[in-house]
Order: sequence, then C-alpha cells, then structure tokens
Amino acid sequence: MCGIVAYIGHRQAYPVILKGLKRLEYRGYDSAGVAMLNNGLHVYKKKGKVAELEDLLTGKDMNSSIGIGHTRWATHGEPNDKNAHPHTSGDKKLTIVHNGIIENYLQIKKELIQRGHQFSGDTDTEVLIHFIEEIKKQNQCSTEEAIRVALKRVVGAYVIVVLDVDNPDTLIAARKGSPLVIGIGKGEHFLASDASPIVEYTKEVVFVNDYEMAIIKADELILKNSSNEIQTPYIQKLDIELAAIEKSGYDHFMLKEIFEQPQTIFDSLRGRLDAKGGTVILGGLREYTTSFESAQRIIIVACGTSWHAGLVAEYMFEELTRIPVEVEYASEFRYRNPVIREGDIIIAISQSGETADTLVAMESAKEKGAVIFGICNVVGSSISRTSHAGVYTHAGPEIGVASTKAFTAQLAVLCLMALKIGHEKGSIPHKRYLQLLHELEAIPEKVEETLKLNDAIKKMAEKYKNAHDFLYLGRGYNFPVALEGALKLKEISYIHAEGYAAAEMKHGPIALVDENLPVVFVATKDAYYEKIISNIQEVKARKGKVIVVVTQGDKNIPALADDVIEVPEADELVAPIINVIPLQLLAYHIGVLKGYDVDKPRNLAKSVTVE
Ligand code: F6R
Repeated sequence: MCGIVAYIGHRQAYPVILKGLKRLEYRGYDSAGVAMLNNGLHVYKKKGKVAELEDLLTGKDMNSSIGIGHTRWATHGEPNDKNAHPHTSGDKKLTIVHNGIIENYLQIKKELIQRGHQFSGDTDTEVLIHFIEEIKKQNQCSTEEAIRVALKRVVGAYVIVVLDVDNPDTLIAARKGSPLVIGIGKGEHFLASDASPIVEYTKEVVFVNDYEMAIIKADELILKNSSNEIQTPYIQKLDIELAAIEKSGYDHFMLKEIFEQPQTIFDSLRGRLDAKGGTVILGGLREYTTSFESAQRIIIVACGTSWHAGLVAEYMFEELTRIPVEVEYASEFRYRNPVIREGDIIIAISQSGETADTLVAMESAKEKGAVIFGICNVVGSSISRTSHAGVYTHAGPEIGVASTKAFTAQLAVLCLMALKIGHEKGSIPHKRYLQLLHELEAIPEKVEETLKLNDAIKKMAEKYKNAHDFLYLGRGYNFPVALEGALKLKEISYIHAEGYAAAEMKHGPIALVDENLPVVFVATKDAYYEKIISNIQEVKARKGKVIVVVTQGDKNIPALADDVIEVPEADELVAPIINVIPLQLLAYHIGVLKGYDVDKPRNLAKSVTVE
C-alpha cells in the first residue's frame, strides 16, 4: 500500500527520501512523487516505479533540507501522473502526502467546488489539502490549526504529512488508522510509514498514535492530541539491523526469507521454549492464561496467509486445549454483527499489524467486551497496540510481498500458545506435552534439511511452469497448508491455483482433473495418511499429474506419483511448518522462471491498510 517518507534536518532531503521510497517499494505501489522547498515549492510525480521518478529528476536542482515523498497504491482515481502524490492546494502554498482513504471526500469536494476550488485529479487527498487551505483562509488560522479542524471533519483512515511554503522549517504530520514512525536523529527527523527507511540513520523512533499530530522541526518534535494538548513522545529503540532489510546476496527477498526460516523459527521459539525443562514461557500470555483456560470459545480473525495460520491453529487449539475455535476472515467478521459472548477470546493474527480489516474486526469485538490477543510480526504496529495482550512472532522484517517466514513463525507461536494453555488447563497428557515440546524444538533443523530440496524443486518448477491451473490438496493439519501453497503460487506466478480439502475434491473439483492438471498433494504421515492415498489414486485414475509432499522413506506414495518431495518426519501437529517450505519454493521458482517480479507481484500490497 501507499508509503510515506519525509525528512527535515541538515542533510539533503532528496537522497534520503529517494532511498526511503525504494525501501518502501515492497509495500506495493503504482506511482511515486516528491516535493521539495528550494526557492519555492517543487513537486515532481510520476506513474510507475521510483526509478522512473529518479530518471525524471536527474540533473534537476533538488537542493533542499526539507521534503516529502510518496509511493501511491491507487484507491481513488486511476494510477497516473496527476493522481500521484504529493498534492497541492489551490494557492500552491501547501502540499501533502497521504496514506489511507478519506471516505467523505465527495461531500467535502462538492462544498469546495461551490466555493470555487478546482481539482486537477480524482483523489481524496487533493480534496483534503484544498479543504485545509479553505479552513485556513476562512478561519485566518495557522496551518496546524487548519489541519486539526479539517481532520475533525474527515471520516476514514489517514496518515498525512504537510509541507507549507510559509513555514519552511516545519513538517506537520497526523495519523488515524495508518502507521507513522518518526526517527529521531541529531538535529534531524525522518518520517516514514514503517521503520525500513529510517533504520540506517537512527534507531530511536516514536510511533505516532491515532489522533495525534506531530509538529516537526529539525531539532524539535512536538506531539499533540486532537484537543491540542502536548503529549510526551514515547521514544523506543528499533531492534532491526540494516542487513535485515537488504537482499544479502540472494536474487530476491522472497528467496532470502524462505532460507531464513530455520533462524526465524528459532527466533520465535527462543527464550520461550525449554523442551528439556518442560516449560513454555510466553510473557504476553501471562496475565491472560486464566482467561484462556476458562474461555468458552476462541475466534481467530485474520486475512490471507495469516488466515491460513489461523486455520492450522484451529486444529492445534481444539486438539490441545479442547476450546472450540472459529476462524474468520476479518473482512467478513467486521461487517456481520457477530455474536460475541462473555468468555470469548479473539486472536488477531497479522504479519504487518496494519491490515485494516483485521484491525477493525478486533476493534469491533473489543467494543463488545471481548479479550483481544494479537499475534503480530511488526513491533509497535497498530494491531499489536490495539490488543489487550499478545505475542510477537520475531521473524524480522518481511519484505517479499508473498508472506513466507512470517507464516512459519506464526505457526510456531500459535503452537507454543496451544501447548502452554493446554498444559495449564490439563487438557494435554503430560507425555504428549513433552513430546510436542521436543518436536517443536527440532523444527528449525528439519526446516534446514527441507531447504536442501531447493535444486530438485527448481527442476520440478521447470517441468510444470506452463500449466494453466494447479490444484493443491491436503487433509487435517495439511489442509491449510494446501490452501497456502495455492495462494503462494497464484500470487507470484499468476497461475490459477485452488486449494481444497482433499476429500472435498469429489464434490466438484475432480471435474477439473485431466492430463494437463498438476495436483499437489500434501500427504505426510498423519492420521489421514491412508485416506489421502485414496484421493491420490482418484486423481491418478483420471490422468492428473500428481506431485506429492511425503514423509522421508514413504514406501507407498512414490509409486503413484509423477513427482515426490520427501520432507523430514515430524508429528502431524508441527508438520505444517515443514510441509509448507517446498510449496513456497515451488511457487518461487515457477514465478522466477516465468520472468515475474516475485518480490513485487502485480496488484498486490504488502500491508493492506484499506478495507
Ligand atoms: C500472502 C499475503 C497476504 C497477507 C494478508 C494479511 O502471501 O502476504 O495474503 O497474508 O494480506 O496480511 P497481514 O498478515 O499483514 O495482516
């Protein structure tokens, strides 16, 4: 989704902003722009990549120590030069970059047109800056005051940064519902939608809260709430290193992140799991263990890959804690007026911690009195701050748009939670509890071993890359893995792929099976093993191409399959963490072989901050 970078200080603003916009490219965008103050206001914007904007600006005088920049992911108005940000007021004194959506912009636009305002594009953002200009004129007030008044009228979500020609030493920012991080340097400030453009300059940051406004000079940061009262900024230390947001020799972030998984899963478990001592420590759960023990129901809300992690968690929690679990698409849950009863706990799962649907779903459940537990990867994100309590996944920054390491870290954390709650509740036999702790502890090593399949899977990708459709099938714990495999493939290779519960195949999808259809089965040794062999036979009988993920040493399935992927043996409860790895690799290689930009697939955004 859209990204903001802004700078004020003693450096040249343009290189900082340009580099920052490149760091935010992973979020997904379709146009980019910058505004600088250099003997007046200069705004440059362009449809396309940041590199195209850079080409446009080569040779131009960009000398300025204050500036704002933006990558736009179109919502209102098609992606083109005029709809790109920054947008400027009618008098060309104010310019703005904005993430989010102003829902009531059409009404405001109508009023402004009646007052003589003219608009060059179709965006809600242009309306907002004209609205601020109009209030400033009507009320004869400062830009800061005009922004405050305007935002009181605005319905929707936003982060804005405004540059005012008449106040060349000040940036004004405000947020509601979209993230904004301010990096604090010596005599300089960096503003961005996430920490990645900031981390190479400073580790000291402030996460701006909803309804706060920041008035930023080179050496001063003033935070105010919507009632104009000064707030004390809470300065936090970033715990990410620059290397974490660079490719480190890999061709793509996605491949790097797939290969990081032994480490990231280890990091998710570190300090939390002690298999020998038989303990699980989850600080975030401490005060809520009894709420979970007595919970009548757990409702998991999430989107996309995080929703798939929720589906695996449903199996884990029901088995280990005997608490009924429902897994909901956040986008459906939020609009459905769901029944929330006393004793219900909501678990919100999100890599970015900014997904608008998930955030609103949990906010509405919170209003109805539910306890909200967040599982997020991004520290300080909106979802983590809106939760009553939660656990971070500690997978490190995920830059590739297709989620990989965040998914396996989510599974590791959810498994730890289910084990902890089940153990405290007494719903897991002690022997099984200890066995699963050891199983979980062994996962990083088994993932490492699974990654050795990379070359073999690349060859398989070569063989199947021209297929038009894929079917992914699994049962039990492997059913959500099949869904995730299909999602990965369609996201980055643009091949149509469906994930199904294998037994559902005969209720419809089997009609698709012919000699051109690759069918990927996830059929490791588990309680459904015999059953899924029958499903494989059903596909084989119809001449489908069968690719199967099996447990090492499997003696039955290879004879039925066209291609076999052997993964290390693991208990069915933790096996999804291993079994998804070959599916990530298959999708990656097919995407690359087809020549697509796997890190930035078309139309997709890394953090989906609009509903
Ligand atoms: C898939 C993918 C998306 C996200 C979804 C939720 O590879 O990345 O489906 O999983 O947009 O995002 P988060 O987890 O940030 O809430």
